[in-house]
Amino acid sequence: MSSQIPHITILGSLNTDLVAYVPHHPLPGETLTATSFLTSPGGKGSNQAVACAKLSRPRDLSSPSAHVSMVGAVGSDSNGDLLLSNLATHGVDSSLVTKLPNKKTGIAMIVVEAETGQNRIIISGEANHQVGEEYVTQGGWLDKTDLLIMQLEIPMGTVLKAVEEAKRRGVDVLLNPAPAKILPDGVYDGLRHLIVNETEAAILGGVEEKELDTLEGLERVGKGFVGKGVENFIATLGGRGVFYLTKGGRSGLIEAEKGVKVVDTTGAGDTFVGRYALEAARARKEGGEFDVGGAVGRANKAAAVTVTREGAARSIPWRDEVE
Ligand code: RIB
Repeated sequence: MSSQIPHITILGSLNTDLVAYVPHHPLPGETLTATSFLTSPGGKGSNQAVACAKLSRPRDLSSPSAHVSMVGAVGSDSNGDLLLSNLATHGVDSSLVTKLPNKKTGIAMIVVEAETGQNRIIISGEANHQVGEEYVTQGGWLDKTDLLIMQLEIPMGTVLKAVEEAKRRGVDVLLNPAPAKILPDGVYDGLRHLIVNETEAAILGGVEEKELDTLEGLERVGKGFVGKGVENFIATLGGRGVFYLTKGGRSGLIEAEKGVKVVDTTGAGDTFVGRYALEAARARKEGGEFDVGGAVGRANKAAAVTVTREGAARSIPWRDEVE
């Protein structure tokens, strides 16, 4: 594409989040009264699109540093309309988000514990499950994309097809395999960026989560992915920070931001992906060396703002809030 700024496309899910804030997570058989309740735009795909858009421009939407597009599906209901307007408000091109007749928009039921800000999420995929392989080639969007971002809240066949088509065209892929599902080894071959949390790293790496408690364990698991062809392996570790390992042998453990008052962790991972993606896409467009440690540091800072606020897309900071 001829534009001076990179074009990032997110192929993924859109959900309406129904969020209950509770004093503690309910025990089996327990009925709890929430202290407050929130309905707000979410879905890992949509959140990551909003993160790319908000973190690439100030609140007045002027001078964006990236074009951001979303490919996916919503239902023909008011939730779908709200998700589409949420994308537009933040400067995301939603022309390739299909509104499906007789389908419901995806729903995420989220319970957030007051003391820790930790969440438990149950998803009902609905329209997201209809995002078939044809979405990968329709409209020729992949040919205009510099960086493709995907998660695993849409059908696996579609993700695999997109990885294959992106590879064929030389388009960089950032995969955030959440929720975790075992992937065929071929996905990792030539994959530019893999961003996982501890649970995902353990499941996909075929190890116990406790193996990731040490730097040696993280290096071992990271080397496993790099050995399969991943160029940049990133593991977000919550309060412990973020570990990275590259094909070129660079690695590091970047500390978590200090003194952060955690209110709600929902959307923090998506913020991280969005901010990291902006750095990766810029480096790709400009052709220079990608400073993965610098990208991780900036992504960490942005995610540290998200956790101080309630909700997913709404809690992601704009560029002028973090720079
Ligand atoms: O990553 C957070 C998101 O996961 C929520 O917004 C929810 O919709 C689920 O998809």
